Amino acid sequence: MKILITGAKGQLGRELCRQMQAGGSALGPLPERLDLATVIPVDIEEADLTARKEVATLVRRYAPDVVINCAAFTDVNGAESRRDEAFAANALAPRNLAMACREAEASLIHLSTDYVFGGEGTRPFTEADLPAPASVYGTTKLLGEQYVQYFSNKWFVVRTSWLYGRGGNNFVNTILRLADEKDEIRVVNDQQGNPTNAEDLAHHLLKLVPTKEYGLYHCTGSGVCTWYDLASEIVRLSGKKAKVLPCASDEFPSPAKRPANSALEHGMLRATVGDAMRPWQEALADYISELKLS
Ligand SMILES: NC(=O)c1ccc[n+]([C@@H]2O[C@H](COP(=O)([O-])OP(=O)(O)OC[C@H]3O[C@@H](n4cnc5c(N)ncnc54)[C@H](OP(=O)(O)O)[C@@H]3O)[C@@H](O)[C@H]2O)c1
Repeated sequence: MKILITGAKGQLGRELCRQMQAGGSALGPLPERLDLATVIPVDIEEADLTARKEVATLVRRYAPDVVINCAAFTDVNGAESRRDEAFAANALAPRNLAMACREAEASLIHLSTDYVFGGEGTRPFTEADLPAPASVYGTTKLLGEQYVQYFSNKWFVVRTSWLYGRGGNNFVNTILRLADEKDEIRVVNDQQGNPTNAEDLAHHLLKLVPTKEYGLYHCTGSGVCTWYDLASEIVRLSGKKAKVLPCASDEFPSPAKRPANSALEHGMLRATVGDAMRPWQEALADYISELKLS
């Protein structure tokens, strides 16, 4: 089996490659058949996924059995003013990949986001809930999901949220840096969601691959919190002295509208490979203790 990983230099792409090369992670070994698979990591230097011909050439050249698309335009605020770039990377690129995968008879695992939801209500969204994105990022990611479903016949669309992974430009690393620079950090307390460790997400994605149980999945850390709760736990676990104070979103006006609620429920994961996504606090504690050791 050959697995092509796009966006291989991003947070999730790196973690997937690491687990494939190490034969698994502390969460468990690779599923059977994947342990013998060849991994082909690619990023924008090898192929710009927004260019249809480059994608077709890439997929013909490697003839993968599976493509895991971790590439995206992930700057949520930046997408508001760079709509064309966000559309190209989040909608056209997965469209190109889906067409190339169909031709190669490869299955496609495509990553999407909690920001396809607009934030209404307080209960976690299920795979059956209708998306209603409030931002350009969310809208382009939703289009990407739809193109994958139109053009590929062997697809998984996996929505995740509040993702952090080693070396990534993410909320956890930002709070750790701010806690060194400031005595007090104000963090919004009126947006709730699920923090997700890239290690747990990669582990579950690799479990899904051999099942061929295609469809839409939600895969996030377990348990719901606000950004303020998350920041407080990051500072507590790291032993830093900074004080974390709650505030409202209006205090930090941002170009992109963020959903007040974007927590996701894992019904389809439970129905297939099982939901062993760790409570967000446990997965975060692991991440922070690994950072301390490195
Ligand atoms: N980060 C989050 O909090 C979050 C939350 C929910 C869902 N997700 C989704 O989860 C997935 C993985 O996110 P991540 O945080 O691992 O992303 P990331 O760290 O931003 O990595 C994305 C990678 O894609 C590459 N890329 C961008 N445009 C490309 C193009 N046109 N052609 C080829 N490669 C391109 C980027 O290269 P450059 O760095 O050179 O641009 C980068 O290496 C994405 O689908 C994202 O939408 C992320």
